[in-house]
Amino acid sequence: MRYFIGIDLGTSAVKLLLTDGKGAIVNTVTKDYPLFFPQPGWSEQEPEDWWSAVTAGVKELTAGVDASLVAGIGCGGQMHGLVALDASDRVIRPAILWNDGRTVKEVDYLNGTVGRDKLSAYTANIAFAGFTAPKLLWMRANEPENFARISKIMLPKDFINYRLTGVHCCDYSDASGMLLLDVANRRWSQEMLDICGISMDKMPALYESYDVVGTLTGEAAALLGLPETVKVVAGAGDNAAAAVGTGTVGDGACNISLGTSGTVFISSDRFGVDPSNALHAFAHADGHYHLMGCMLSAASCNKWFCEEILKTEDYAGEQKDITEDRLGRNRVLFLPYLMGERSPINDSEARACFLGMSMDSSRADFVQAVLEGVAFALRDSLEVARSLGIPITRSKLCGGGARSPLWQKILANVLDLPLDLPQTEEGPGYGGAMLAMVGCGVYPSVEDCCAALVRTKATVEPDKELTARYAERYAAFRRVYPALRPLFHS
Ligand code: XUL
Repeated sequence: MRYFIGIDLGTSAVKLLLTDGKGAIVNTVTKDYPLFFPQPGWSEQEPEDWWSAVTAGVKELTAGVDASLVAGIGCGGQMHGLVALDASDRVIRPAILWNDGRTVKEVDYLNGTVGRDKLSAYTANIAFAGFTAPKLLWMRANEPENFARISKIMLPKDFINYRLTGVHCCDYSDASGMLLLDVANRRWSQEMLDICGISMDKMPALYESYDVVGTLTGEAAALLGLPETVKVVAGAGDNAAAAVGTGTVGDGACNISLGTSGTVFISSDRFGVDPSNALHAFAHADGHYHLMGCMLSAASCNKWFCEEILKTEDYAGEQKDITEDRLGRNRVLFLPYLMGERSPINDSEARACFLGMSMDSSRADFVQAVLEGVAFALRDSLEVARSLGIPITRSKLCGGGARSPLWQKILANVLDLPLDLPQTEEGPGYGGAMLAMVGCGVYPSVEDCCAALVRTKATVEPDKELTARYAERYAAFRRVYPALRPLFHS
C-alpha cells in the first residue's frame, strides 16, 4: 500500500488530496490564504502564505493514515505568477499573479516594438498582461533594486517544489506561460531572456511534469511528518494538471475549467500554433502539447456578484428561480471582464458591465446574466479553436463553478457541446497525484494512468431549441465588446 499527495495551489486556496495507489481519494483538505489587490488591476500573494498553507494542510491530510506510506507528491499550480528569490533563496517581493494587469506598457512594448512575429517565433506565443516576461520588464523599470537582487525566478508551484526538495525546477507546461520558453523545442529562449535582461543561470532546470525532481529535504520531511524518501515530481500548470485529472490527453480532447479563471484546453499530439495567437500554444503535462484560451474572471464573477454585491453566499438559492423556460431568453447581458481579459481579446483595460436592463429586470436576471456572460466568453475561445478546423465534439467540465447544475446546462447549450462530468471533481489536485503515480512507476505513462483512473459520472447534453436560442443571445453578446472598446481605452 502506498499513498500519493496531489496539491492544487490555487488563487484563493490550496486544495490537497491524498489518494491510495489505485487512485481512490482517501482525504482532502483546503487551506485559504489572502489575495491582495494593492492597486486596481494588480493582484499579488505572499509565497510564504502558500508554503504555510501547504505544510499545515499536509499534516492534516495525513493525520488519519500511516504517513510513512506516502510515496509521492505532485503539484498543479496557478500559472504565470512571478516569484523572485535572492541569492539566499529568500522571496524578494510578493508574487505578481496570473490575473495581474499592471503590465499594459510592457505588453505593448513586447507585442508592438519587439513584435508579435518575433515573440511567436521565439516562444510560440505573444505577450499577455499576466504572463511572466512582461512582469520582469515591469520590475526592471519600476523596482530596479529588487530586479538587481534576483538570483532565481520561478512559478508559484515551483516555489513549493523548491521548499520540498531544495531543487530549483520547472516543468514544460507551466514554463510555457512565462513567455520565456521556446515551446516547440522545450528549452529556455535565449532571445527572450536577453529581452528581459535575465541570464540563463537565473532560470530553474526544466523537467517533464511526471519526472521526479528530487526527494524531501530533511527539513521539509520533519515539518510535514513524512519520510525523506517521498519523491516529488515536477508537476504542472493547474490547467495541464486539471486536464490530466479529467483524462484530457491525446489528440483533440477538450477540457473546460470553470474556476477563478475559465479555460478551454485542447490537447494535441503535435506542436501547433494558433496563427492569430489568441489561443496559447503550450506544452502539456503528458509530454505533448495543447492549445488554450483563458478568461481571467469566470467563477469569480459569480462569487463577486453574489458575495460583494448581493451579500450572500447562498449561490444555489440565487439560482433556484432561474427555471429552464428562462434560459436563452434573458435580455440582460453581462461582460465578465472584472480583471480585464486575456483570451481572445487580450485587453487589460476592458471592464465588466451589465447591459439591457428594463424596469421588469429581476435579481434572477442579473444572476443568470453573470452565468451566461461567462459561458459566452468561453465560447469566444472555443470559436477560435473551431475556426482553426479543430473538430471539438465534446468536452470534459471541471472546476468549482461546474458543480452548479444550472451553469452546466447553460454551458452545454451556449457551447453546443455535450459536457462530460468526471467522477473526481478535484481536477488539478487529482492530476498532481496522478503525475506523482507516474513518476513513482505505478503507471508507465500519463495516458495509461488516465485510462486506468478517470471515469465520467454524467454527461450534460445540449438541447436543440435551447442551443438555437443561445446562438441568438451569443450573437448579441459578440457585438458588445467591440462597441465598448473605445470607452475602455478612453
Ligand atoms: C492560465 C491562467 C489561469 C491560472 C489560474 O493561463 O492564467 O488559469 O493558471 O490558476
